[in-house]
Amino acid sequence: MDIEVFLGRAAQIEADAIVITLFEGNKSSVKHISDIDNILDNTIQRLIEKGEVKGKLNEITMIHSLGRLAAPHVVLLGLGKEPELSSEKVRGAMAEACRFLRQKGCAVIATTSMGKAVAGLDINTFAEAVVEGALLGLYLFRTHITRAAEYGEVKKLIMITNSESELVALEEGSTRGSIMAEATSRARNMVNEPANYMTPAIMAQVAGGLGAGVEVNVFEEEKIKKLGMGGLMGVARGSREKPRFIVLNYTGKSGNEIDVALVGKGITFDSGGISIKPSDKMSEMKGDMAGGAAVIAAMDAIARLRPAINVLAAIPATENLPDGNAIKPGDVITAMGGKTIEIISTDAEGRLILADALNYVREAGAKRIIDVATLTGACHIALGDVCSGAFGNNQVLIDNVIASGKDAGELIWQMPMYEQYKEQNKSDVADIKNSGGRYGGAITAAQFLAEFVGEIPWVHLDIAGTFLSDKEKGYLTKGATGVPVRTLINLVLHLAK
Ligand code: BES
Ligand code: MN
Ligand code: ZN
Repeated sequence: MDIEVFLGRAAQIEADAIVITLFEGNKSSVKHISDIDNILDNTIQRLIEKGEVKGKLNEITMIHSLGRLAAPHVVLLGLGKEPELSSEKVRGAMAEACRFLRQKGCAVIATTSMGKAVAGLDINTFAEAVVEGALLGLYLFRTHITRAAEYGEVKKLIMITNSESELVALEEGSTRGSIMAEATSRARNMVNEPANYMTPAIMAQVAGGLGAGVEVNVFEEEKIKKLGMGGLMGVARGSREKPRFIVLNYTGKSGNEIDVALVGKGITFDSGGISIKPSDKMSEMKGDMAGGAAVIAAMDAIARLRPAINVLAAIPATENLPDGNAIKPGDVITAMGGKTIEIISTDAEGRLILADALNYVREAGAKRIIDVATLTGACHIALGDVCSGAFGNNQVLIDNVIASGKDAGELIWQMPMYEQYKEQNKSDVADIKNSGGRYGGAITAAQFLAEFVGEIPWVHLDIAGTFLSDKEKGYLTKGATGVPVRTLINLVLHLAK
C-alpha cells in the first residue's frame, strides 16, 4: 500500500472514501471538517446532535456523498473520549475502519489529520499510529491460497492536511509508521509461513535478503560445531534439515563497541522431539521461530531508521524433531562456553539453542543483551495472551524494554527472578538441567538462560502467549501478531539517544 501526504482541502480529494475521526461527547469535534460538512448540508453535525453518531471508540458510520464530494464515501470513525486517547486506540480504530472499507471495495482511502496536537498526541505520533493501524489491520497472509481474494486490495492511504506547517510532521510520522508496520508484517509472514516453507536454511535466506545496512553472516554446521555450540547441534540431531546460526550486524556509529545484542529463538518447528508434544495444536509450533523472526525484522527497520548505535543480532535456527539420532531425555550435552546440560525433556529445546547464542553474543562483547523466545507454555498460562513476560538482571534495562513496549502497544509484564528458583534447575549429573518442572516454568526457564549471560545487563522476553492471535481484533489479524518487533525497534532508538 502506498502512503501519501496531501496538502489541500479534503472536499477535493480523489479517493474512494474519506475517514473522519471524532471524539465521544464532543459536539464541536467536527470543526476541523466544517468545509466537508457544509457541502454535505451539515449531515455530520446533525447526526451527532441527534445522537446517532456518538464517537464511541471504533464506532463506524458510513455516509454517501452522492456526488457532492469527489470522494463517494465519508466514514465517521469514533475515537472514544478525547482525554483517554492513545496511539494504541488510533491504531485499532484505523485498522477497523480500513478493513470495513476494504469490504466495501474501496481502493483509495483518505484521512484528515485533526489539526495540531490531538488529545495530547502530537501530529507525528498520530500519523505514525494511523499508518501502523491501517497497514497492520489490512495485513493478509495469502501466500498459499490459490483462489482469488474475496475483496480487492486497499492500494493507497492519503493523509490530508490543510496546514503547511503540519506537512513535515505528517510525513515523518507516516514514514516511521510504514517502517514499523512493514517490519511487523515481515515478522508475521515468517511466523505464518508453514514449517516446510520456513526451514532454518530459508530463514537464513530471508535474513540474507534484508536491505542495505544490515551485514549478514550465516554459520553452517561445520562452523557451528567448531564454535562448540552443543545446544544447537544437539537439538538439530533429530532433523534432516541442517541448522543455521544467523548473525546480523548493524553499525550506526564508529568504533566496534556492541551497544546491544538481540537474540531470537529460531525453532522452525517444535514437535517436542523424543519428548513429543500432543498432536492437538502442534501445527502452531511452526511459529516457534517467532523470536528469531522478530529480531530479523527489527534489524531491517533499524537499518532503515539509522540510529547512532551498534547492534549485533544472533538467531540459532533448527527444527526439533524425533529421530533415531535425536537427543534423548537423560543425555548430557555441552553448550558453547563449556557448561554441561542434562536433558530432562527434549521439548525444553529453546533454552538449549539460546544458551549457545547468549554465550556467543557475550563473547562477542555485547554491552547489553535482549533475547526473545516462544519459550514456555507456562508463560502463556501465567499471563494469557495480553502481555509478554519480561525477566532480567538489570532493572534499568527491564524498565526501558517495558516502556518501549508500551509505546508500541505491545504489553509486557515483569516476572520475578528470585534466586530460590535456581534450585529447581540443579542436576545430579551435569552443571544444570534443562527443565525445572511444571511449577514456575517460565521463571526457571529464564533462570536457566541467566546462567549464560553472566553479569551483562540482560532482558529475556517470553512471547509464548503473545506471538499468535486467535482472532481479528484491532490491528491484530488472526495468526502471527509480529510481537515484539516494534518494542525492539523502539528500544534500540531509545538506547541510541
Ligand atoms: N515452544 C515451546 C513453548 C510454547 C508452547 C510456545 C506453546 C508457544 C506455545 C517450548 O519449546 C516448550 O515446549 N516448552 C516446554 C518446556 C517444558 C518441557 C519444561 C513447555 O512449555 O511445556
Ligand atoms: Mn519445545
Ligand atoms: Zn519450542
